Amino acid sequence: MNPRTENLTPRRDAAGVSLAQALVYELRVRDAMTCRLRTASPRDSLRSIQLLMKEHRISGVPITRDSALLGLVSIEDIVHALDQGHINDPAEARMTRHPVVMRDHYSLVRAVAEFDRFDFGRFPVLDVGDRLVGIITRGDITGALMHHLERRAEEAVRKEAERTAAAVPDEPHRRFILNAEVRAGDFDSAGKLSQRLRQILRARGVEPSIRRRATIIAYEAETNMIIHSLGGRLTATVGADRVTIEAVDQGPGIEDLDLAMREGWSTAGPLARKLGFGAGMGLPNIRRSTDQLDIKSDLANGTRLHAEVLLQPARAP
Ligand SMILES: Nc1ncnc2c1ncn2[C@@H]1O[C@H](COP(=O)(O)OP(=O)(O)OP(=O)(O)O)[C@@H](O)[C@H]1O
Ligand SMILES: [Mg+2]
Repeated sequence: MNPRTENLTPRRDAAGVSLAQALVYELRVRDAMTCRLRTASPRDSLRSIQLLMKEHRISGVPITRDSALLGLVSIEDIVHALDQGHINDPAEARMTRHPVVMRDHYSLVRAVAEFDRFDFGRFPVLDVGDRLVGIITRGDITGALMHHLERRAEEAVRKEAERTAAAVPDEPHRRFILNAEVRAGDFDSAGKLSQRLRQILRARGVEPSIRRRATIIAYEAETNMIIHSLGGRLTATVGADRVTIEAVDQGPGIEDLDLAMREGWSTAGPLARKLGFGAGMGLPNIRRSTDQLDIKSDLANGTRLHAEVLLQPARAP
């Protein structure tokens, strides 16, 4: 494989073939291609194709007649036409005839090789009956890999959860699922832990609305520790009837808790604001999302937030 191919297919790790590498063999072009096609007819002007590309943010338009592929107009053709003053010509006068195509049954490894071999930005995809069924770019391949990697990762988390559940028979109803350090000023990591919690809760089959509320609490508590504290720890447990989230930090504490709970009140500094924090909505959002909330904060010991979300929401009277 040449170096370009390696960009999409990570090198072997110690355990053998990496997951991404396995996936490029498993997945087909039809799993990655874009099926919602924007096509044009041979009589359409390059100008109208330019507008089509702009409107749908695409970089290549197949020219077809009754789903038979006649040619391809790419963004490069449009730039050239603008440059040379023939943007009002019909597509058939300027399109690439007999473009190199891919077949929908090709493996992605083969597709990547085709991209490297021809250096085109996109390929039309035909099925066995020579019908145009899609178009594929490198971005589509990367997107499909990411999508499938995420699905596999979630599956792994679910299996792990099942495994640990089986390993603690004497404590079937209180399971610790997340326990991680949150570092002060680590803006890059903001949202990572809450994202992970969301995945675990999904893998555990926790209902979407409950999952969303738990994730909001974890996210706001996590970012508050990053922005306002000296660092702390975020933990989450799933019990028989509730998800419990605790955020405990090392200070400096909240001076006036009533004020801090008000919508729009914030002491976030200029950097945090520049990064999109500091609307003063975190604690109010946490309050809205919890079934039970307890925040203790003092300037000597820091802040301790304890929030619970019931798995079965209390029914309205
Ligand atoms: N863990 C914490 N340690 C110290 N101060 C905190 C902590 N959490 C919140 N605060 C204080 O409470 C204020 C309000 O918090 P809140 O999360 O509602 O808003 P914010 O973090 O400023 O903005 P947003 O959450 O909308 O990005 C903060 O500006 C900060 O002064
Ligand atoms: Mg906040």
